[in-house]
Amino acid sequence: MHAGMLGHLLLIFIVLFQPVAARSAETPENVCLQCHGAMTGRTGEPVKLWRGSIHAENGISCNGCHGGDPKDAANAMSPERGFLGVPKAKDIPAFCGRCHLGVMKDFQASGHGRALGNGGPTCVTCHGNHQVLKATPDLINEKSCSRCHGFERAREIKSAMQETERLISSLDARIIGYKKIGGDVDRLEKGLFSLRNRFHSLFHSVDVEKVKKESAQITTELKKLEAAVTEMDTTRQQRKVAGAVAVAAALAAALLFHLLGRTYHDR
Ligand code: HEC
Ligand code: HEC
Ligand code: HEC
Ligand code: HEC
Ligand code: HEC
Repeated sequence: MHAGMLGHLLLIFIVLFQPVAARSAETPENVCLQCHGAMTGRTGEPVKLWRGSIHAENGISCNGCHGGDPKDAANAMSPERGFLGVPKAKDIPAFCGRCHLGVMKDFQASGHGRALGNGGPTCVTCHGNHQVLKATPDLINEKSCSRCHGFERAREIKSAMQETERLISSLDARIIGYKKIGGDVDRLEKGLFSLRNRFHSLFHSVDVEKVKKESAQITTELKKLEAAVTEMDTTRQQRKVAGAVAVAAALAAALLFHLLGRTYHDR
Protein backbone atom coordinates (compact mmCIF):
# COMPACT_ATOMS: atom_id res chain seq x y z
CA MET A 1 0.00 0.00 0.00
CA HIS A 2 1.60 3.35 -1.00
CA ALA A 3 1.48 6.60 0.93
CA GLY A 4 -1.29 8.28 -1.14
CA MET A 5 -3.70 5.42 -0.54
CA LEU A 6 -2.92 5.46 3.14
CA GLY A 7 -3.74 9.18 3.17
CA HIS A 8 -7.11 8.50 1.55
CA LEU A 9 -7.94 5.80 4.04
CA LEU A 10 -7.04 8.11 6.88
CA LEU A 11 -9.31 10.79 5.46
CA ILE A 12 -12.21 8.34 5.11
CA PHE A 13 -11.61 7.25 8.66
CA ILE A 14 -11.76 10.82 9.97
CA VAL A 15 -14.87 11.66 7.92
CA LEU A 16 -16.64 8.52 9.12
CA PHE A 17 -15.89 8.77 12.79
CA GLN A 18 -15.74 12.45 13.67
CA PRO A 19 -19.43 13.25 13.11
CA VAL A 20 -20.41 10.32 15.33
CA ALA A 21 -18.50 11.81 18.23
CA ALA A 22 -19.97 15.26 17.54
CA ARG A 23 -23.53 13.91 17.21
CA SER A 24 -23.54 12.00 20.47
CA ALA A 25 -22.41 15.13 22.29
CA GLU A 26 -25.39 17.00 20.81
CA THR A 27 -28.00 14.38 21.77
CA PRO A 28 -30.47 16.19 24.04
CA GLU A 29 -30.80 14.82 27.53
CA ASN A 30 -33.81 12.68 28.25
CA VAL A 31 -36.57 15.21 29.04
CA CYS A 32 -38.29 12.89 31.54
CA LEU A 33 -35.17 13.01 33.68
CA GLN A 34 -34.73 16.76 33.19
CA CYS A 35 -38.22 17.68 34.27
CA HIS A 36 -38.79 15.05 36.97
CA GLY A 37 -35.25 15.53 38.28
CA ALA A 38 -36.18 19.12 39.19
CA MET A 39 -39.29 18.03 41.12
CA THR A 40 -39.66 16.90 44.72
CA GLY A 41 -42.01 14.43 46.37
CA ARG A 42 -44.04 11.77 44.57
CA THR A 43 -42.94 12.87 41.07
CA GLY A 44 -39.28 13.65 41.86
CA GLU A 45 -38.45 10.72 44.15
CA PRO A 46 -38.42 8.10 41.33
CA VAL A 47 -35.46 9.85 39.66
CA LYS A 48 -33.26 9.58 42.77
CA LEU A 49 -34.19 5.94 43.33
CA TRP A 50 -33.80 5.03 39.66
CA ARG A 51 -30.26 6.50 39.48
CA GLY A 52 -28.94 3.70 41.68
CA SER A 53 -30.77 0.93 39.78
CA ILE A 54 -29.63 -1.81 37.42
CA HIS A 55 -31.95 -0.25 34.83
CA ALA A 56 -30.08 3.08 34.97
CA GLU A 57 -26.85 1.12 34.64
CA ASN A 58 -28.16 -0.53 31.48
CA GLY A 59 -29.63 2.60 29.88
CA ILE A 60 -33.29 1.78 30.59
CA SER A 61 -34.80 5.14 31.48
CA CYS A 62 -38.25 6.36 32.60
CA ASN A 63 -39.68 5.97 29.10
CA GLY A 64 -38.39 2.37 28.92
CA CYS A 65 -41.03 1.43 31.48
CA HIS A 66 -43.64 4.20 31.31
CA GLY A 67 -43.43 4.87 27.57
CA GLY A 68 -43.75 8.41 26.22
CA ASP A 69 -41.37 10.57 24.18
CA PRO A 70 -38.08 11.35 25.92
CA LYS A 71 -37.08 13.90 23.23
CA ASP A 72 -40.09 16.20 23.27
CA ALA A 73 -40.80 17.97 26.57
CA ALA A 74 -44.15 19.38 25.39
CA ASN A 75 -45.63 15.99 24.40
CA ALA A 76 -43.52 13.67 26.54
CA MET A 77 -46.47 12.25 28.45
CA SER A 78 -49.04 12.14 25.71
CA PRO A 79 -50.69 8.76 25.08
CA GLU A 80 -50.20 9.37 21.34
CA ARG A 81 -46.46 9.10 22.04
CA GLY A 82 -46.95 5.80 23.80
CA PHE A 83 -47.16 7.09 27.37
CA LEU A 84 -48.55 4.31 29.57
CA GLY A 85 -48.90 6.17 32.87
CA VAL A 86 -48.70 4.31 36.18
CA PRO A 87 -49.69 0.65 36.05
CA LYS A 88 -52.28 -0.76 38.46
CA ALA A 89 -50.96 -3.59 40.65
CA LYS A 90 -52.58 -6.34 38.57
CA ASP A 91 -51.02 -4.93 35.37
CA ILE A 92 -47.46 -4.81 36.71
CA PRO A 93 -46.34 -8.29 35.57
CA ALA A 94 -47.26 -7.46 31.97
CA PHE A 95 -45.71 -3.99 32.35
CA CYS A 96 -42.33 -5.48 33.35
CA GLY A 97 -42.88 -8.55 31.18
CA ARG A 98 -42.55 -6.55 27.95
CA CYS A 99 -38.81 -6.94 28.52
CA HIS A 100 -38.67 -9.87 30.95
CA LEU A 101 -40.87 -12.23 28.96
CA GLY A 102 -39.48 -15.51 30.30
CA VAL A 103 -39.77 -14.39 33.92
CA MET A 104 -43.30 -13.13 33.33
CA LYS A 105 -44.38 -16.50 31.92
CA ASP A 106 -42.85 -18.41 34.84
CA PHE A 107 -44.47 -15.97 37.25
CA GLN A 108 -47.91 -16.23 35.63
CA ALA A 109 -47.82 -20.02 35.79
CA SER A 110 -46.80 -19.98 39.47
CA GLY A 111 -48.72 -19.98 42.75
CA HIS A 112 -47.89 -16.29 42.99
CA GLY A 113 -49.16 -15.54 39.49
CA ARG A 114 -52.40 -17.40 40.16
CA ALA A 115 -52.90 -15.30 43.31
CA LEU A 116 -52.46 -12.03 41.37
CA GLY A 117 -55.09 -9.56 42.55
CA ASN A 118 -55.92 -11.98 45.36
CA GLY A 119 -53.23 -11.32 47.95
CA GLY A 120 -50.32 -12.50 45.78
CA PRO A 121 -47.17 -10.40 45.22
CA THR A 122 -46.29 -8.61 41.97
CA CYS A 123 -42.81 -7.99 40.58
CA VAL A 124 -42.39 -4.78 42.58
CA THR A 125 -43.34 -6.46 45.88
CA CYS A 126 -40.00 -8.26 45.74
CA HIS A 127 -37.84 -6.11 43.42
CA GLY A 128 -39.12 -2.61 44.11
CA ASN A 129 -40.27 -0.30 41.33
CA HIS A 130 -37.55 2.31 40.78
CA GLN A 131 -34.56 1.10 42.74
CA VAL A 132 -34.45 -2.35 41.14
CA LEU A 133 -31.12 -4.02 41.94
CA LYS A 134 -29.30 -7.02 40.55
CA ALA A 135 -31.26 -10.08 41.66
CA THR A 136 -29.71 -12.48 44.16
CA PRO A 137 -31.09 -15.26 46.37
CA ASP A 138 -30.79 -12.76 49.25
CA LEU A 139 -34.17 -11.49 48.05
CA ILE A 140 -35.51 -14.64 49.66
CA ASN A 141 -35.48 -13.69 53.31
CA GLU A 142 -37.73 -14.03 56.29
CA LYS A 143 -38.63 -10.34 56.46
CA SER A 144 -39.77 -10.17 52.85
CA CYS A 145 -41.30 -13.62 52.42
CA SER A 146 -43.28 -13.94 55.63
CA ARG A 147 -45.38 -10.85 55.02
CA CYS A 148 -48.16 -13.02 53.57
CA HIS A 149 -47.46 -16.60 54.64
CA GLY A 150 -45.03 -18.73 56.64
CA PHE A 151 -41.34 -18.82 55.74
CA GLU A 152 -41.09 -22.64 55.73
CA ARG A 153 -41.55 -23.25 51.98
CA ALA A 154 -39.40 -20.23 51.18
CA ARG A 155 -36.63 -21.65 53.37
CA GLU A 156 -36.78 -24.96 51.50
CA ILE A 157 -36.45 -23.20 48.16
CA LYS A 158 -33.58 -21.14 49.41
CA SER A 159 -31.62 -24.07 50.79
CA ALA A 160 -32.18 -26.03 47.57
CA MET A 161 -30.71 -23.07 45.65
CA GLN A 162 -27.77 -22.30 47.94
CA GLU A 163 -25.34 -25.06 46.94
CA THR A 164 -25.94 -24.38 43.23
CA GLU A 165 -25.45 -20.65 43.73
CA ARG A 166 -22.18 -21.24 45.59
CA LEU A 167 -20.90 -23.54 42.84
CA ILE A 168 -21.75 -20.98 40.15
CA SER A 169 -19.82 -18.20 41.94
CA SER A 170 -16.74 -20.30 42.57
CA LEU A 171 -16.65 -21.61 38.96
CA ASP A 172 -17.14 -18.12 37.65
CA ALA A 173 -14.13 -16.86 39.62
CA ARG A 174 -11.93 -19.76 38.48
CA ILE A 175 -12.88 -19.37 34.81
CA ILE A 176 -12.25 -15.62 34.94
CA GLY A 177 -8.86 -16.40 36.45
CA TYR A 178 -7.94 -18.45 33.36
CA LYS A 179 -9.37 -15.87 31.03
CA LYS A 180 -7.09 -13.21 32.53
CA ILE A 181 -4.01 -15.24 31.71
CA GLY A 182 -5.26 -15.93 28.17
CA GLY A 183 -6.55 -19.46 28.74
CA ASP A 184 -8.93 -21.00 26.19
CA VAL A 185 -12.12 -21.03 28.29
CA ASP A 186 -14.71 -20.24 25.62
CA ARG A 187 -16.53 -23.53 25.92
CA LEU A 188 -16.54 -23.45 29.72
CA GLU A 189 -17.75 -19.88 29.77
CA LYS A 190 -20.67 -20.65 27.45
CA GLY A 191 -21.56 -23.72 29.48
CA LEU A 192 -21.61 -21.76 32.71
CA PHE A 193 -23.58 -18.93 31.12
CA SER A 194 -26.40 -21.19 29.98
CA LEU A 195 -26.54 -23.11 33.27
CA ARG A 196 -26.61 -19.86 35.19
CA ASN A 197 -29.52 -18.62 33.06
CA ARG A 198 -31.43 -21.84 33.60
CA PHE A 199 -30.81 -21.59 37.32
CA HIS A 200 -31.81 -17.95 37.66
CA SER A 201 -35.12 -18.49 35.91
CA LEU A 202 -36.01 -21.24 38.33
CA PHE A 203 -37.11 -19.19 41.31
CA HIS A 204 -40.27 -17.58 39.92
CA SER A 205 -42.06 -20.91 39.70
CA VAL A 206 -42.00 -20.93 43.56
CA ASP A 207 -42.53 -24.65 43.17
CA VAL A 208 -40.56 -26.33 45.96
CA GLU A 209 -40.35 -29.75 44.24
CA LYS A 210 -39.42 -28.29 40.86
CA VAL A 211 -36.72 -26.04 42.33
CA LYS A 212 -35.24 -28.96 44.28
CA LYS A 213 -35.23 -31.28 41.25
CA GLU A 214 -33.85 -28.77 38.74
CA SER A 215 -31.26 -27.34 41.15
CA ALA A 216 -29.96 -30.88 41.62
CA GLN A 217 -29.78 -31.43 37.83
CA ILE A 218 -28.03 -28.12 37.29
CA THR A 219 -25.59 -28.94 40.09
CA THR A 220 -24.70 -32.21 38.31
CA GLU A 221 -23.94 -30.28 35.12
CA LEU A 222 -21.93 -27.70 37.06
CA LYS A 223 -19.86 -30.46 38.66
CA LYS A 224 -18.85 -31.56 35.13
CA LEU A 225 -17.61 -28.05 34.36
CA GLU A 226 -15.86 -28.01 37.72
CA ALA A 227 -14.04 -31.25 36.82
CA ALA A 228 -12.89 -29.70 33.53
CA VAL A 229 -11.51 -26.64 35.36
CA THR A 230 -9.76 -28.87 37.89
CA GLU A 231 -8.21 -30.77 34.99
CA MET A 232 -6.90 -27.45 33.64
CA ASP A 233 -5.41 -26.75 37.08
CA THR A 234 -3.61 -30.11 36.99
CA THR A 235 -2.30 -29.62 33.45
CA ARG A 236 -1.09 -26.17 34.39
CA GLN A 237 0.66 -27.55 37.46
CA GLN A 238 2.34 -30.20 35.31
CA ARG A 239 3.39 -27.54 32.81
CA LYS A 240 4.86 -25.49 35.63
CA VAL A 241 6.90 -28.48 36.78
CA ALA A 242 7.92 -29.23 33.19
CA GLY A 243 8.79 -25.55 32.78
CA ALA A 244 10.89 -25.59 35.93
CA VAL A 245 12.72 -28.69 34.67
CA ALA A 246 13.36 -26.99 31.32
CA VAL A 247 14.69 -23.86 33.05
CA ALA A 248 16.94 -25.98 35.27
CA ALA A 249 18.23 -27.85 32.19
CA ALA A 250 18.91 -24.57 30.37
CA LEU A 251 20.77 -23.22 33.41
CA ALA A 252 22.83 -26.39 33.61
CA ALA A 253 23.64 -26.11 29.89
CA ALA A 254 24.61 -22.43 30.31
CA LEU A 255 26.84 -23.33 33.24
CA LEU A 256 28.43 -26.09 31.18
CA PHE A 257 29.11 -23.70 28.27
CA HIS A 258 30.51 -21.17 30.71
CA LEU A 259 32.82 -23.73 32.22
CA LEU A 260 33.84 -25.04 28.78
CA GLY A 261 34.44 -21.42 27.70
CA ARG A 262 36.63 -20.84 30.72
CA THR A 263 38.55 -24.00 30.02
CA TYR A 264 38.98 -22.78 26.43
CA HIS A 265 40.15 -19.25 27.49
CA ASP A 266 42.34 -20.57 30.24
CA ARG A 267 44.26 -22.54 27.74
C1 HEC B 1 -42.06 19.28 31.44
C2 HEC B 1 -42.13 18.43 32.60
C3 HEC B 1 -42.33 16.94 32.43
C4 HEC B 1 -41.79 16.10 31.50
C5 HEC B 1 -40.88 16.47 30.33
C6 HEC B 1 -42.21 14.76 31.85
N1 HEC B 1 -43.03 14.80 32.94
FE1 HEC B 1 -43.89 13.21 33.86
N2 HEC B 1 -44.92 14.45 35.08
C7 HEC B 1 -44.78 15.81 35.14
C8 HEC B 1 -45.69 16.35 36.13
C9 HEC B 1 -45.84 17.83 36.50
C10 HEC B 1 -46.40 15.24 36.68
C11 HEC B 1 -47.49 15.25 37.72
C12 HEC B 1 -48.80 15.31 37.03
C13 HEC B 1 -49.94 15.01 37.94
O1 HEC B 1 -49.71 14.76 39.12
O2 HEC B 1 -51.05 14.96 37.41
C14 HEC B 1 -45.88 14.06 35.99
C15 HEC B 1 -46.32 12.77 36.24
C16 HEC B 1 -45.73 11.62 35.71
C17 HEC B 1 -46.08 10.28 36.08
C18 HEC B 1 -47.17 9.88 37.06
C19 HEC B 1 -48.48 9.95 36.38
C20 HEC B 1 -49.63 9.59 37.31
O3 HEC B 1 -50.67 9.21 36.75
O4 HEC B 1 -49.49 9.65 38.52
C21 HEC B 1 -45.27 9.44 35.36
C22 HEC B 1 -45.26 7.94 35.40
C23 HEC B 1 -44.44 10.29 34.52
N3 HEC B 1 -44.74 11.59 34.77
C24 HEC B 1 -43.50 9.80 33.64
C25 HEC B 1 -42.87 10.61 32.70
C26 HEC B 1 -42.07 10.08 31.61
C27 HEC B 1 -41.82 8.61 31.32
C28 HEC B 1 -41.60 11.16 30.91
C29 HEC B 1 -40.75 11.16 29.65
C30 HEC B 1 -41.24 10.38 28.53
C31 HEC B 1 -42.10 12.35 31.57
N4 HEC B 1 -42.86 11.97 32.65
C32 HEC B 1 -41.83 13.63 31.16
C33 HEC B 1 -43.90 16.55 34.40
C34 HEC B 1 -43.13 16.10 33.33
C1 HEC C 1 -38.36 -0.61 35.83
C2 HEC C 1 -39.53 0.12 35.39
C3 HEC C 1 -39.65 1.56 35.79
C4 HEC C 1 -38.78 2.58 35.51
C5 HEC C 1 -37.46 2.52 34.77
C6 HEC C 1 -39.38 3.79 36.02
N1 HEC C 1 -40.58 3.50 36.61
FE1 HEC C 1 -41.86 4.81 37.48
N2 HEC C 1 -43.05 3.28 38.11
C7 HEC C 1 -42.88 1.97 37.77
C8 HEC C 1 -43.94 1.18 38.37
C9 HEC C 1 -44.10 -0.33 38.25
C10 HEC C 1 -44.76 2.07 39.06
C11 HEC C 1 -46.00 1.71 39.89
C12 HEC C 1 -45.45 1.52 41.27
C13 HEC C 1 -46.19 0.67 42.22
O1 HEC C 1 -47.39 0.43 42.08
O2 HEC C 1 -45.49 0.24 43.14
C14 HEC C 1 -44.17 3.40 38.87
C15 HEC C 1 -44.69 4.58 39.40
C16 HEC C 1 -44.23 5.86 39.07
C17 HEC C 1 -44.83 7.11 39.52
C18 HEC C 1 -46.04 7.21 40.43
C19 HEC C 1 -45.54 7.25 41.84
C20 HEC C 1 -46.63 7.42 42.85
O3 HEC C 1 -46.28 7.30 44.04
O4 HEC C 1 -47.77 7.65 42.49
C21 HEC C 1 -44.08 8.14 38.99
C22 HEC C 1 -44.31 9.62 39.18
C23 HEC C 1 -43.01 7.53 38.22
N3 HEC C 1 -43.14 6.15 38.31
C24 HEC C 1 -42.07 8.25 37.53
C25 HEC C 1 -40.94 7.69 36.98
C26 HEC C 1 -39.81 8.46 36.49
C27 HEC C 1 -39.72 9.96 36.46
C28 HEC C 1 -38.89 7.56 36.04
C29 HEC C 1 -37.51 7.83 35.51
C30 HEC C 1 -36.54 8.29 36.50
C31 HEC C 1 -39.46 6.24 36.26
N4 HEC C 1 -40.67 6.35 36.84
C32 HEC C 1 -38.81 5.05 35.89
C33 HEC C 1 -41.86 1.43 37.01
C34 HEC C 1 -40.78 2.14 36.51
C1 HEC D 1 -41.79 -13.43 45.52
C2 HEC D 1 -40.73 -12.54 45.10
C3 HEC D 1 -40.54 -12.27 43.63
C4 HEC D 1 -41.50 -11.90 42.71
C5 HEC D 1 -43.00 -11.76 42.90
C6 HEC D 1 -40.80 -11.68 41.47
N1 HEC D 1 -39.47 -11.92 41.64
FE1 HEC D 1 -38.00 -11.74 40.26
N2 HEC D 1 -36.68 -12.61 41.49
C7 HEC D 1 -36.90 -12.94 42.80
C8 HEC D 1 -35.73 -13.63 43.34
C9 HEC D 1 -35.58 -14.19 44.75
C10 HEC D 1 -34.77 -13.68 42.29
C11 HEC D 1 -33.35 -14.23 42.35
C12 HEC D 1 -33.28 -15.65 41.92
C13 HEC D 1 -31.85 -16.12 41.81
O1 HEC D 1 -30.92 -15.41 42.17
O2 HEC D 1 -31.68 -17.23 41.33
C14 HEC D 1 -35.41 -13.03 41.15
C15 HEC D 1 -34.79 -12.84 39.92
C16 HEC D 1 -35.29 -12.01 38.91
C17 HEC D 1 -34.58 -11.64 37.71
C18 HEC D 1 -33.18 -12.05 37.34
C19 HEC D 1 -33.12 -13.48 36.91
C20 HEC D 1 -33.40 -13.70 35.48
O3 HEC D 1 -34.00 -14.74 35.14
O4 HEC D 1 -32.99 -12.86 34.64
C21 HEC D 1 -35.43 -10.85 36.97
C22 HEC D 1 -35.15 -10.19 35.64
C23 HEC D 1 -36.67 -10.75 37.71
N3 HEC D 1 -36.55 -11.48 38.86
C24 HEC D 1 -37.78 -10.03 37.27
C25 HEC D 1 -39.05 -10.22 37.82
C26 HEC D 1 -40.28 -9.81 37.18
C27 HEC D 1 -40.38 -9.10 35.85
C28 HEC D 1 -41.30 -10.19 38.00
C29 HEC D 1 -42.79 -10.07 37.75
C30 HEC D 1 -43.32 -10.73 36.56
C31 HEC D 1 -40.70 -10.82 39.18
N4 HEC D 1 -39.34 -10.83 39.02
C32 HEC D 1 -41.39 -11.28 40.28
C33 HEC D 1 -38.05 -12.67 43.50
C34 HEC D 1 -39.25 -12.30 42.94
C1 HEC E 1 -37.59 -1.60 28.59
C2 HEC E 1 -37.22 -2.91 29.06
C3 HEC E 1 -37.35 -3.22 30.55
C4 HEC E 1 -38.47 -3.07 31.34
C5 HEC E 1 -39.85 -2.55 30.93
C6 HEC E 1 -38.10 -3.60 32.63
N1 HEC E 1 -36.81 -4.03 32.62
FE1 HEC E 1 -35.81 -4.96 34.14
N2 HEC E 1 -34.12 -5.00 33.04
C7 HEC E 1 -34.00 -4.57 31.74
C8 HEC E 1 -32.61 -4.67 31.32
C9 HEC E 1 -32.07 -4.33 29.95
C10 HEC E 1 -31.89 -5.16 32.43
C11 HEC E 1 -30.40 -5.40 32.54
C12 HEC E 1 -29.97 -6.60 31.81
C13 HEC E 1 -30.42 -7.85 32.46
O1 HEC E 1 -29.91 -8.17 33.54
O2 HEC E 1 -31.34 -8.48 31.93
C14 HEC E 1 -32.88 -5.38 33.48
C15 HEC E 1 -32.58 -5.93 34.72
C16 HEC E 1 -33.52 -6.25 35.67
C17 HEC E 1 -33.26 -6.99 36.89
C18 HEC E 1 -31.92 -7.55 37.32
C19 HEC E 1 -31.65 -8.84 36.58
C20 HEC E 1 -30.40 -9.54 37.03
O3 HEC E 1 -29.74 -10.13 36.16
O4 HEC E 1 -30.08 -9.55 38.24
C21 HEC E 1 -34.42 -7.10 37.57
C22 HEC E 1 -34.65 -7.79 38.90
C23 HEC E 1 -35.44 -6.41 36.79
N3 HEC E 1 -34.85 -5.92 35.64
C24 HEC E 1 -36.75 -6.26 37.17
C25 HEC E 1 -37.69 -5.48 36.49
C26 HEC E 1 -38.99 -5.13 37.02
C27 HEC E 1 -39.51 -5.54 38.37
C28 HEC E 1 -39.60 -4.38 36.04
C29 HEC E 1 -40.95 -3.72 36.11
C30 HEC E 1 -41.21 -2.83 37.26
C31 HEC E 1 -38.69 -4.27 34.92
N4 HEC E 1 -37.54 -4.94 35.25
C32 HEC E 1 -38.97 -3.62 33.72
C33 HEC E 1 -35.03 -4.11 30.94
C34 HEC E 1 -36.31 -3.82 31.37
C1 HEC F 1 -47.80 -10.13 48.92
C2 HEC F 1 -47.88 -11.40 49.58
C3 HEC F 1 -46.78 -12.43 49.34
C4 HEC F 1 -45.40 -12.24 49.48
C5 HEC F 1 -44.65 -11.00 49.86
C6 HEC F 1 -44.81 -13.54 49.18
N1 HEC F 1 -45.79 -14.47 48.88
FE1 HEC F 1 -45.51 -16.43 48.47
N2 HEC F 1 -47.53 -16.68 48.20
C7 HEC F 1 -48.48 -15.69 48.36
C8 HEC F 1 -49.79 -16.25 48.04
C9 HEC F 1 -51.11 -15.49 48.11
C10 HEC F 1 -49.58 -17.61 47.68
C11 HEC F 1 -50.64 -18.63 47.24
C12 HEC F 1 -51.36 -19.19 48.42
C13 HEC F 1 -50.44 -20.09 49.20
O1 HEC F 1 -49.99 -21.12 48.67
O2 HEC F 1 -50.14 -19.74 50.36
C14 HEC F 1 -48.14 -17.85 47.83
C15 HEC F 1 -47.53 -19.07 47.62
C16 HEC F 1 -46.18 -19.32 47.81
C17 HEC F 1 -45.56 -20.63 47.66
C18 HEC F 1 -46.26 -21.94 47.30
C19 HEC F 1 -46.45 -22.00 45.81
C20 HEC F 1 -47.08 -23.31 45.36
O3 HEC F 1 -47.31 -23.40 44.15
O4 HEC F 1 -47.29 -24.17 46.18
C21 HEC F 1 -44.22 -20.47 47.88
C22 HEC F 1 -43.15 -21.53 47.84
C23 HEC F 1 -44.01 -19.06 48.16
N3 HEC F 1 -45.22 -18.39 48.11
C24 HEC F 1 -42.77 -18.49 48.38
C25 HEC F 1 -42.54 -17.15 48.61
C26 HEC F 1 -41.23 -16.56 48.74
C27 HEC F 1 -39.91 -17.32 48.63
C28 HEC F 1 -41.41 -15.24 48.98
C29 HEC F 1 -40.36 -14.17 49.20
C30 HEC F 1 -39.34 -14.01 48.17
C31 HEC F 1 -42.85 -14.99 48.98
N4 HEC F 1 -43.49 -16.18 48.74
C32 HEC F 1 -43.45 -13.77 49.20
C33 HEC F 1 -48.25 -14.38 48.74
C34 HEC F 1 -47.01 -13.83 48.98
